Amino acid sequence: MKKSNISFSEIIFDKNIYPRFQVDRKRVDIFIENIKDGFQFEPVEVEKHPGKPGKFRILDGVHRWSAYKAIGPKSIDVIIIDLKGDNALLYSAGKAIGPKQLLEDEARETARTAYKNNPQISIAKISQSIGRSSRTVTRYLSDLKAVYEQEVDIKIYHMIQLGIPQERVSCILDIPQRSLSHRIEKLSEMTKPIKTDLTKGFSVSQIAKKYNCRESMILSIKCVNKNDIEIFKSLKWGLRTWDYWHWSSCDDRFGDDWPGRIPAQLIGHILFFFSKQGDLVIDPMGGGGVTSDTCLVFNRKCWSFDLTDNKDKRPEIEKYYWDPNNLKWPVKGKTKPDIIIFDPPYFDKKSDDYDTKSISSLSVSDYMRFLKEFCLLLNQNSKKGTRFAFINADWRNFQSTSAINESTENAILIDDYLRIIKESGWQRTHIIQAPLPSERFNAGVVAAMQKKRILGVTSRYVIISFKK
Ligand SMILES: C[S@@+](CC[C@H](N)C(=O)[O-])C[C@H]1O[C@@H](n2cnc3c(N)ncnc32)[C@H](O)[C@@H]1O
Repeated sequence: MKKSNISFSEIIFDKNIYPRFQVDRKRVDIFIENIKDGFQFEPVEVEKHPGKPGKFRILDGVHRWSAYKAIGPKSIDVIIIDLKGDNALLYSAGKAIGPKQLLEDEARETARTAYKNNPQISIAKISQSIGRSSRTVTRYLSDLKAVYEQEVDIKIYHMIQLGIPQERVSCILDIPQRSLSHRIEKLSEMTKPIKTDLTKGFSVSQIAKKYNCRESMILSIKCVNKNDIEIFKSLKWGLRTWDYWHWSSCDDRFGDDWPGRIPAQLIGHILFFFSKQGDLVIDPMGGGGVTSDTCLVFNRKCWSFDLTDNKDKRPEIEKYYWDPNNLKWPVKGKTKPDIIIFDPPYFDKKSDDYDTKSISSLSVSDYMRFLKEFCLLLNQNSKKGTRFAFINADWRNFQSTSAINESTENAILIDDYLRIIKESGWQRTHIIQAPLPSERFNAGVVAAMQKKRILGVTSRYVIISFKK
């Protein structure tokens, strides 16, 4: 708490943390009269504005501030409060109810906004701040709470189905282990109505909309007792029998719209040929979750990691940074993967879309060194027979260069990947061609490339190996 005198231009009236619908003009006028009569009021309370550097926002004293502002001084006495992460709206509400209770609708709206901002906030805290009983607050929030609890159950369902150990789920979702176990026991209750809807003939997308969940979750319930071939049929994916896997587009039912998203069909084929139901998949750079969604439907366990923090939307992808200067295995315990599906950034492609710490920001030599050390780390943390599916594309620097003039300097090609895989202890068994779709280039670009005799890259590979 610090007293200060700051100019009006530095103070913002932030409606988002004002618990009343309107500023009471009559009250402001009374304050104006009192100030003119020489009455000194308490300083207003402000905090540093979290979103606007150099500015402050009012926590208490909007009427006094309005009155002083109308009278004309350039600055005002304030007390600068550090809420240390406490909810600013509730703090303001707690101060506001001193002089005058909030109206019913104002109290309700304040409670709901505070809850939406932080669903883990206690009823007692809200009730104390807005001056209403716990029962009333519970009533204000009942519909929001039901939706929130269902969202949490959906997250738990995903993580448990994917075989993420309970202590990690508890830590990620910030739910004590005992209440987590209790919720897990009741998950079958949550899936019952979904199964009923499926038997009644509702479509997967209709049901997903109804329960506000991803289609992959409904598909996983639909496919629960099916074998892999039946799952392929159910998804309407043709099964590729030879080592050339091509799809012109991703299946939108799997993963989020993510830079470098791969087709779920590709992951489905890796799972089909190189793993079995119940196996543990490790997905070290999970991105938008195509691998984990596909594993969910194909009944594989899956531990995914990515440096991007996407905890609210996809807690099943754990935030983890593979530090090129200090590579470490993220999980404790003896469990080893049955298969690793590694889909890294293809060198600097999409580097503008990823975090600056992404390996796509490395130089060619550092990228190659990272891949080598990373493949070694994966090998050290695998068991005899663990499969390794490494997905990557050729990278050639052909921008504006006709094929005949291209230099191989700095190119990263399949022989580099094969060498790295071999040198890090993996025994290679298959090279599958899974080309990038060329359909995404428009006719104008294609014509320009042809004119200059530029040879584009669509070569992408899935290199399969195993630990001897
Ligand atoms: C090609 S994308 C993966 C896309 C994913 N398979 C999908 O279909 O949604 C590569 C991912 O690697 C992540 N990444 C890059 N460098 C990383 C690092 N050092 N540690 C952790 N993740 C990293 C990026 O954030 C990006 O999401």
